[in-house]
Amino acid sequence: MALIYFTSEDLEVDVDEGIALVDVAAEVDCDITFGCKSGSCGTCRVRVVSGMDNLSPAATEERDFLQGFGAHPDERLGCQLKINGDCKIRYVGLDDLED
Ligand code: FES
Repeated sequence: MALIYFTSEDLEVDVDEGIALVDVAAEVDCDITFGCKSGSCGTCRVRVVSGMDNLSPAATEERDFLQGFGAHPDERLGCQLKINGDCKIRYVGLDDLED
């Protein structure tokens, strides 16, 4: 089991390790909004407050996408994440993305 803490909602959720964040979000009342679900729109951008090592690693395409928008190194695309252990996540969305 893994514990996800959604900081914006003060919401803790126990999940099975290996589950996709997009599947968790479909089951609980968290603020993360998804668009394409394929890593190309940025709608699902999240900041990993803690537990980055407990998430599936970012593929080159995801890293390139986030870097292209000037995203902070602790940010990920929620639709690309699998949860492998405890983590704290804050939804960012498209706020503050640079063109
Ligand atoms: S939903 Fe579009 S990048 Fe994640």
